[in-house]
Amino acid sequence: MKILVTGGLGFIGSNFIRFMLQAHEGCMIMNVDALRYGSNENSLADLNENERYSFLQGDIADPAFIKEQIKDVDAIVSFAAETHVDRSISRPDSFLHSNVFGVFNLLEALRNHNPDARFVQISTDEVYGDILDGSFSEESTLRPSSPYSASKAAGDVYVLAYARTYGLHAMITRCTNNYGPYQFPEKLIPKTILRAKTGLKIPIYGTGQNVRDWIYVIDHCRAVEQVLLRGLEGEIYNISAGEEKTNLQVAKTILEMLGKGEELIEFVDDRPGHDARYSLDSSKIRGELGWRPQWSFAEGIQKTVDWYLQNDGWWRPLMDDKILHPMPWKLNW
Ligand SMILES: NC(=O)c1ccc[n+]([C@@H]2O[C@H](COP(=O)([O-])OP(=O)(O)OC[C@H]3O[C@@H](n4cnc5c(N)ncnc54)[C@H](O)[C@@H]3O)[C@@H](O)[C@H]2O)c1
Repeated sequence: MKILVTGGLGFIGSNFIRFMLQAHEGCMIMNVDALRYGSNENSLADLNENERYSFLQGDIADPAFIKEQIKDVDAIVSFAAETHVDRSISRPDSFLHSNVFGVFNLLEALRNHNPDARFVQISTDEVYGDILDGSFSEESTLRPSSPYSASKAAGDVYVLAYARTYGLHAMITRCTNNYGPYQFPEKLIPKTILRAKTGLKIPIYGTGQNVRDWIYVIDHCRAVEQVLLRGLEGEIYNISAGEEKTNLQVAKTILEMLGKGEELIEFVDDRPGHDARYSLDSSKIRGELGWRPQWSFAEGIQKTVDWYLQNDGWWRPLMDDKILHPMPWKLNW
């Protein structure tokens, strides 16, 4: 199987590529990434000599480029996106390019040049907005809160429309918050680990009571693999591990693991439009595709903290005052 992965130099995409090459001997992967924010060539440096892997720098919103790459692949798994909610608040316009025009361009290229290929669009629980009680199913209304999630929702509805109108073999996955190795230090978990390790205060937005359902990145990769191989066309699959934690609980867990005191925690201004709680019902993928998470939060967070402590050479070049800023949504990006 020849797979085009987009955004494969980002956090989840790089984990997915390594996972698929290990799990499937017959799998060839071409990675297309625009080398934007969040990308890191060092994340897949170990695959440079692997004959089943290749990388090409390019933009998913570039029609001529994508047409050439898409022609002879069996499947496309698209992770490419602008992903940072805080940045979408200070610069919403750039999110339309990748998350809407980019998705549209992939769909147009498929329709015109490779309509038999399978297509998995990697989306997010954030398209549903927040929920105080209960959990969202795949049928729930889309009510995104941030410019980031609005742009992801727009991409999703294009995917559904192209599956219906043109019969494309397209599917959508919507996953909760991921954590694990190779995540850019601007996100909550790596930022907490790295600031705590260097003795800096840990910024917690508002009261720290916002709830996220955390999934170890390899469990997300295994779910995407199942949808790619066995998912039904035009379907949406929610993915969640059922590990709901407040941001404050996550920060305290990491501090304890690093042997640091809770006095490092500093409450800062809340992010505008900050979703209170995300929660997904993932019984569809569990029931229909037999997927289950294999990692508990306790195991996954230990592995993640250990990875950051052992991989100084990966994260140190990425660290600067802007990336580690306590409130990135207040900056001009
Ligand atoms: N991180 C999470 O917790 C999470 C949860 C659910 C869903 N998702 C989704 O998973 C996907 C990957 O997220 P991530 O955390 O790995 O993000 P990331 O920011 O680490 O990686 C995104 C990658 O996409 C690339 N990219 C952006 N625009 C591009 C373009 N126009 N053309 C080609 N490449 C482009 C970037 O260079 C980067 O390498 C996203 O679609 C995101 O919405 C993420």
